[in-house]
Parts: sequence; C-alpha cells; structure tokens
Amino acid sequence: MIRFVYILIIVFSPITWGADDGGLLFNGNCATCHHLQKASSAPTINEIRERYLQAFPNKHEFINYLSSFVLNPSAKKSLMHDKIEKYGLMPQLVFEKESVKSIASYIYDGKIEATTK
Ligand code: HEC
Repeated sequence: MIRFVYILIIVFSPITWGADDGGLLFNGNCATCHHLQKASSAPTINEIRERYLQAFPNKHEFINYLSSFVLNPSAKKSLMHDKIEKYGLMPQLVFEKESVKSIASYIYDGKIEATTK
C-alpha cells in the first residue's frame, strides 16, 4: 500500500507542479503588463487568449506559436497588428523556453480569473 502511495505521488506531482508554475510565472512575469480586464499599457490577457484561440484551437499549436512570439517578439509573427500600432511591439524579455510554455498552457486553459485580480 505504501509503495502504491509513493507511485501516486511520483506520477502526479510533476503535473500539479506544472499547472501551478504556469499561474505563478504568469503573475510574476506577464500580469504587470497584461491585466485581465483593463488594458493600460498592453492588451488584456483575455483579448490575447481569444485571438490566439481563434487562430490555434489546438492546444499544442497554441502553446508553440504563443511561446515563439514571446521568446522573440516580431511584427512578422504577430496575430495582433492593431495592438502593435496602439502600444508598440512587446519588448523582448528573457525567459526560459519551458517557463514560457507552461505560461502558454496556463493561458490556454483559461483559469486566469481564479488567480489574478
Ligand atoms: C513590459 C510589458 C509587457 C510584459 C511584461 C509582457 N508583455 Fe506581452 N505584450 C506587451 C505589449 C505592449 C503587447 C502588444 C503589442 C504586440 O502584440 O507586440 C504584447 C503582446 C503580447 C502577445 C500578443 C502578440 C501578438 O502580437 O500576436 C502575447 C501572446 C503576449 N504579449 C504574451 C505575453 C506573455 C506570455 C508575457 C509574460 C511571459 C508577456 N506577454 C509579458 C507587453 C508586455
């Protein structure tokens, strides 16, 4: 029985960690500019999510495309040219690829309301 519990912990902990990571990383790195409802210096995360979901309903493609933009923002890759005109291109920030992927997965899942104000 004890061994069974250990296996459960080993199997499930990375998944839970991954999910939590995405939320924490989003709040720490993106939420300063990307608010939930009110756009001030950048589009809201809801607007971004909707635009990206329309283009990439598939989660895997959503994560890949969004991550590649964030790791290296360029007008060429943008799905939101109107926002670039309004706010200027998103600055290039230094992130780990894996962190950006878990943030992208978190955005796709759409549970942002539960953790941000
Ligand atoms: C310093 C402010 C700032 C921070 C921090 C920031 N962004 Fe942005 N972001 C912007 C601005 C401004 C835009 C709108 C212009 C554009 O699309 O490039 C934008 C646009 C975007 C877009 C849409 C890109 C497009 O044009 O298709 C995505 C996706 C995005 N941000 C994701 C993120 C994620 C994920 C993080 C955190 C890892 C983050 N941003 C952090 C300012 C920021």
